[in-house]
Amino acid sequence: MAIPAWFTEDRFGMFIHWGLYALPARHEWVKNRERITDEDYDRYFRHFEPDLFDPRAWARSAKRAGMKYMVLTTKHHDGFCLWDSKLTDYTSMNTPIGKDLVAEFVEAVRAEGLRVGFYHSLIDWHHPDFVVDGLHPRRDDPPEEIKRLNEGRDMARYRAYLHGQVEELLTGYGTIDYLFYDFSYKDDDHHDVWNGKGKEEWGSEELLALTRGLQPEIIVNDRLAIPGDLVTPEQYQPDRPMEVDGQPVVWEACQTLNGSWGYDRDNLDVKPVDLLVRMLVDGVSKNGNMLLNVGPTGRGDFDATALATLEGIGTWMSRHQRSIYGAGPSSHRAPVDTRYTQRGNRLYLHLFTWPFGHVHLPDLAGKVEYAQFLHDASEIKYREIDPSIKAQNTGLGGQPPGTLTLSLPVVRPDVAVPVVELFLRQDT
Ligand code: GLC
Repeated sequence: MAIPAWFTEDRFGMFIHWGLYALPARHEWVKNRERITDEDYDRYFRHFEPDLFDPRAWARSAKRAGMKYMVLTTKHHDGFCLWDSKLTDYTSMNTPIGKDLVAEFVEAVRAEGLRVGFYHSLIDWHHPDFVVDGLHPRRDDPPEEIKRLNEGRDMARYRAYLHGQVEELLTGYGTIDYLFYDFSYKDDDHHDVWNGKGKEEWGSEELLALTRGLQPEIIVNDRLAIPGDLVTPEQYQPDRPMEVDGQPVVWEACQTLNGSWGYDRDNLDVKPVDLLVRMLVDGVSKNGNMLLNVGPTGRGDFDATALATLEGIGTWMSRHQRSIYGAGPSSHRAPVDTRYTQRGNRLYLHLFTWPFGHVHLPDLAGKVEYAQFLHDASEIKYREIDPSIKAQNTGLGGQPPGTLTLSLPVVRPDVAVPVVELFLRQDT
């Protein structure tokens, strides 16, 4: 699969989940989880007035955090559209804010020099032709009610709507670099629901062809139930470089700040900065990207926790981005509790826990020409300890042949994840 080079070069993007569900502020699946009727959910439509919406501020926060691309929910599963769609009235144009929010987003992101991506929900819990199924908010209604609701619903008409909206999004907003379709749930082990939907319902082959036809350079994810350009592990870290049918694939883990994608006011499950940095590093060490989500509030801004977290990540990235951008896995074997990334002859040792005094690097003896901390370019001394030497008093014992031993300060540098930059000899 050929994929534009920027994607694996950039490594780090921002996901934005934003829509009506920012108002109830208790997860973007609130309509589904709480079985809210269209009528009741309408209160959020009537009150959607994000007066603090400033996509330039979003983009600047993303940029300062070291992110290189941004992906916005044009429509989530609740069916609400953030752009001026001609195919429905269920858009931001008809809420109190009365604006095409996608247009402003796209312009702001580009102005900050970042790449533009759209998330688009295949699922639609508002559209009158979307057949009620086992994942639908109305799934627990009495069977006769579900039967009544489904009378006259026609997925062919929904499909035309879906394709028509994608066409609007891919023709009205200039170059779109990335499309995250979400999601298929048919005939698979994870989503065993009645009336599940997949490639036939979405018309996936045609939709993908339409997508590529309108935006030839676009990167498309794998959730149409047909192969895409990358795979998208969600809220977990793969334990090794990902493969499909034994072949290495491009992948991107999408991750949240607190387990919810939409703004979730009372959620306290907040990931600390150092954990998020470790997740990013871990991904790059396994040839993956990270798409880290922020759920803006109903006023349209980022909440204080999200802002502080992004600042913290940015503080780390400003000094360590060399180990992320354009870097990928190394063929060298990293010691326990560390991750290697490599770019050319520079090998980056990320220390996830702080060792006392030394770290022993297998197979690197004779291969390193210079070593320094990445955050302050201070030299790190290293040596090879002859395997035959016995440990005595303050003297370290011998190490297995080929081991390179680094000497580290006792006090851990005050950065989220300390990194040693190792310059490998060109001839190794
Ligand atoms: C999911 C969820 C969702 C979120 C998404 C992000 O499949 O349905 O709410 O948008 O994945 O990857």
